[in-house]
Amino acid sequence: MKRLLLSLTALGAASVPAQSAKVDFAKQIWPIFEKRCTECHRAAYTGDDGREHKPKGRVELDSLDGIKQSKRGKLVVAGDSGKSILYEVITLPADDDDVMPPKKKGKPLSQKETDLIKRWIDGGADFGSWTGTAKGKSDEERKDDKGRDKSDGKSDGKSKPKAGSGSKSKKKGSPLTTLAKNLKPVPEDVLKGLAQGPFRIASVGDDSPLLEVTSFGETDAIDDARLADLLPIADHIAELDLAATRITDKAGAVLAKMPRLVTLDLRQTEIGDHGVAELGKCKELRSLNLYGTKVGDYGATALAPLANLEELYLWQTEVSAKTAVRLRETLPDLRIVMAADLPEPPAEAADGRPRRRR
Ligand code: HEC
Repeated sequence: MKRLLLSLTALGAASVPAQSAKVDFAKQIWPIFEKRCTECHRAAYTGDDGREHKPKGRVELDSLDGIKQSKRGKLVVAGDSGKSILYEVITLPADDDDVMPPKKKGKPLSQKETDLIKRWIDGGADFGSWTGTAKGKSDEERKDDKGRDKSDGKSDGKSKPKAGSGSKSKKKGSPLTTLAKNLKPVPEDVLKGLAQGPFRIASVGDDSPLLEVTSFGETDAIDDARLADLLPIADHIAELDLAATRITDKAGAVLAKMPRLVTLDLRQTEIGDHGVAELGKCKELRSLNLYGTKVGDYGATALAPLANLEELYLWQTEVSAKTAVRLRETLPDLRIVMAADLPEPPAEAADGRPRRRR
């Protein structure tokens, strides 16, 4: 039924004059997102209350990167609104559980708004010079920064991890400034060469020589061999997202060569004990996500030397409660997540219903 609806809309659009003026993202689309979406879909930030607010459903609509490299898949497929998740969810029937904004958040977008978004996507989804407010700092963002400074005391404002980077170290302040010291930036041509591959590589922010590397949705293209492509920049990688890629235990040896790794996401990969055991060498790790991997007690025990580790996700692994308890005895500041962590408040939580995609 939904498909039918979509194709009818497509037919309707065919009668719109082909030469209709180009949609300006910053002027015409962003205001819709800002008004109806970013309340729930903005990069993680620490509010004045000191609480961390995470983007709902891990969808961030307040930055170019957030929209383009969403963990949820292709939010926007340039030239094809029919394949764009974002367009799909705003055109679902008003009473659909998955419609955006959610039912309880008032009216769906108007036909005029959804048509405009459709025209923008089908016309190539050009963002113009817009790169987002997540880093560009609106007034609200600045206010949030103050909140953050308060909550971690030592932050000098420069060490703020890039918006959306996930884990924020609240107690100890961000290590990124210290780790960047005396580190020369990776030469342009090296970065250019790597840009041909499946990774998306960017500075962690504030012109830091440290890098954030993500799969940019190319999870199937990334295996152990592709991961080894990153060795020339291994010294510079601070944040690495390999979630749902095809890496295996062999990745461990490559990861062990990344001495400045602070945040590592390996969820839903085939990595197991032998790969994870290598991570004992990544002494700067603060956050490690092993959710849905094959790691067991042997691998988890090998993490004991990681004195800086603050967050460890072990949900849906073979690690026993006994090993987790022992690990926490060794690392008292460590927060271990063994069971489903439900970041959404109950009123807005995704209930257990099956998702449409996957
Ligand atoms: C009141 C909070 C709220 C608002 C406002 C909101 N969303 Fe969402 N959105 C959510 C939640 C919660 C989820 C996660 C749903 C889930 O995982 O089942 C979500 C998920 C999504 C997804 C992923 C859907 C999928 O199936 O993968 C997209 C895309 C999205 N929202 C786009 C939007 C857009 C565009 C707007 C504005 C027009 C918007 N949202 C407004 C709460 C909100």
